[in-house]
Amino acid sequence: MLSSLRIASRRAAAAGRTSVVVRASSTWANVPQGPPDAILGITEAFKADKFEKKINLGVGAYRDDKGKPYVLPSVRKAEEKVVSSRLNKEYAGITGVPEFTKAAAVLAYGKDSPALGRLAITQSISGTGALRIGGAFLSRFYPGSKTIYLPTPSWANHAAVFSDSGLKVERYTYYDKNTIGLDFEGMIRDIKNAPDGSIFLFHACAHNPTGVDPTPEQWREIEAVVKAKGHFSFFDMAYQGFASGDIHKDAFAVRHFVAQGHNVCLAQSFAKNMGLYGERIGAFSQVCADADEAKRVDSQIKILVRPMYSNPPIHGARIAAEILNTPELYDQWLVEVKEMADRIITMRALLKENLEKLGSKHDWSHITSQIGMFAYTGLSPEQMEALAKEHSVYATRDGRISVAGITSDNVGRLAEAIFKVKG
Ligand SMILES: Cc1ncc(COP(=O)(O)O)c(C=O)c1O
Repeated sequence: MLSSLRIASRRAAAAGRTSVVVRASSTWANVPQGPPDAILGITEAFKADKFEKKINLGVGAYRDDKGKPYVLPSVRKAEEKVVSSRLNKEYAGITGVPEFTKAAAVLAYGKDSPALGRLAITQSISGTGALRIGGAFLSRFYPGSKTIYLPTPSWANHAAVFSDSGLKVERYTYYDKNTIGLDFEGMIRDIKNAPDGSIFLFHACAHNPTGVDPTPEQWREIEAVVKAKGHFSFFDMAYQGFASGDIHKDAFAVRHFVAQGHNVCLAQSFAKNMGLYGERIGAFSQVCADADEAKRVDSQIKILVRPMYSNPPIHGARIAAEILNTPELYDQWLVEVKEMADRIITMRALLKENLEKLGSKHDWSHITSQIGMFAYTGLSPEQMEALAKEHSVYATRDGRISVAGITSDNVGRLAEAIFKVKG
């Protein structure tokens, strides 16, 4: 039997009034339009541009010297091994594939790290998921003020990840736009001025978006101040190996803090250093006081993860585990990570060299002193606009360019375009 409501809606439909009825009573009528996505805007403008030598420097993923996405040969080999093993598709445990998490911890903290015996670690949906689990864990259990201090600027997603996790977001000084470098005094001052026991987020290496990192000496000073203030350190390491080409050098800050007695937490991503972007593979770990504490923390991480997504996907974890646990594949991967890092370093040097050859009077040394995929050019939003409109070079308005989008073919034209808008 049809209910009177269904009869009424059939009559309304027959009379051609359905859409009016539905729209007037829509549950989501009050949902406002979100702001446009900056990267999507760049991608669309880039697509619409018909100039064949257009350059896209807005991409957040590595490109080879032909400007194409790159799958590491070590990843191809590991994947073939995984597929040919014809493993089953059973669920992983809540904290993921243990062969992966164990190896990820060794990669980050070092094989002889004292932290390994007192670590709670879980596989995560890449670096973002790791940050989110960490944010949720701190929000639930951090005994001090639930405020996290982020550098100014920081990766665009950090503030949203942490505020959606239930933490209050504050900022500390990081970048100095006059020197296009680190405002080290400002950073130290803000760390000192924050209330004792605050949570600080540090980019372990290849700071995104500036490409500006503290030197090892500066990290030592930062560590001492963090310790004196009793602050808690949350490291985001999205670029281990990809920054300098050396996995140990890039992990210096994390390992130094641990060696100095900080029970840090850490978000790792395998998006960039293994090129496993879409596989969404990462890890969140918390260094604990002892194995017993680690067991309790682990139990609570499971309680947090279970209602979010039950357990993580297995394919990317199996690929990463295969690479990290097979000596020949591991050695091959180290060479390939270095090749990617070296291509980026070479493109930085070529861009600077080309600008200088054109007669630019500006000091471009920041292009080569910065590290990682992104470079802060120091160009103004108006100059970035002119780059797009007049030279078909697309990147974000804050002056950040993705060095991964530079190739041997386009670096000359890019330098000319920058020279024309900046001088
Ligand atoms: C600093 C930083 N943290 C975390 C991430 C997270 O990336 P993903 O979730 O793809 O691993 C990124 C990606 O660009 C990043 O730059």
